[in-house]
Amino acid sequence: MNRTRRLRKTENIRRLVRENRLTVDELIYPLFIEEGTNIETEIVSMPGIKRWSLDRISKELDEVVALDIPAVLLFGIPSKKDEIGSETWNDNGIMQNAIRFIKKNYPSLYVITDVCFCEYTSHGHCGVIHDNDVDNDATLLNIAKQVISHAKAGADMVAPSGMMDGMIATIREALDNTGFYDLPIMSYAVKYASAYYGPFRDAADSAPTFGDRRTYQMDSSNRDEALREATFDDQEGADILMVKPALAYLDIIRDVKNNFDRPVACYNVSGEYAMIKAAAEKGWIDGDRVMMESLLSMKRAGADIIITYFAKDVAKLLLKR
Ligand code: PBG
Ligand code: ZN
Repeated sequence: MNRTRRLRKTENIRRLVRENRLTVDELIYPLFIEEGTNIETEIVSMPGIKRWSLDRISKELDEVVALDIPAVLLFGIPSKKDEIGSETWNDNGIMQNAIRFIKKNYPSLYVITDVCFCEYTSHGHCGVIHDNDVDNDATLLNIAKQVISHAKAGADMVAPSGMMDGMIATIREALDNTGFYDLPIMSYAVKYASAYYGPFRDAADSAPTFGDRRTYQMDSSNRDEALREATFDDQEGADILMVKPALAYLDIIRDVKNNFDRPVACYNVSGEYAMIKAAAEKGWIDGDRVMMESLLSMKRAGADIIITYFAKDVAKLLLKR
């Protein structure tokens, strides 16, 4: 008789037949870096995650490096915003200073930058506004300037998150024309308009002041459209394709994994983090186990890389095993 329970009898045989495992090697840890000094602000809806100014952030970076987390994803929070987000291409802006600081003091750490405008625009949208909507092609011109500025500051990889059409082609061309042909692009290829971003918008001060992002981010009802999005970014030369959010979109992660010959990343977003932390704080779930089970589901779905606020928690837990 077929008995599947034979291979579940002890932990050792379970280890031998285990199909997926989580390691620190595939984790990217997001960091919120705020312009100014003496800033170490707890984000209320994301317990354990803070906004840091550069004079304080070494404490955090020391820990990231000690835990052997390979990469960080930087979000900049500038002290001044304007209509078009021109601080994003200021060579002396918060992002550019953060890149230089980290590459100088932590040369082994791989530095990825978020490329967008929402933290830098007075209206909180991800680009230039014309007629009450984000103007795609006007925004592309500014994306090119932003990306070159990140590259010149020493970024190892850029990660455009604004869901503008043609953004990957624009960025690839801009980088190649300035000699940065070696600098890879991780595209937020399939990014849904999601309520799971709520805590992030508080953290990064990036909530839109009017309307929402539904004219550029994807409708959560759609699955076929995700392949269209990923196809364009693949053709335009994205090196890594990302799906975001992760947990409610595991089907999309698997679709992208099956259909493209590129590494697939997923973004375990702020709301996913907040839900687990909050329920664990209440004692309603075992936070560590639900964290591991959720992240493992993303690997099973096909993610090669996971961007997660849990990165330090996971690394610590794995060290204890
Ligand atoms: C902005 C951006 C967002 C996130 C990453 N980059 C939010 C948004 O689109 O409003 C979300 C990250 C998270 O929720 O953890 N381009
Ligand atoms: Zn944005």
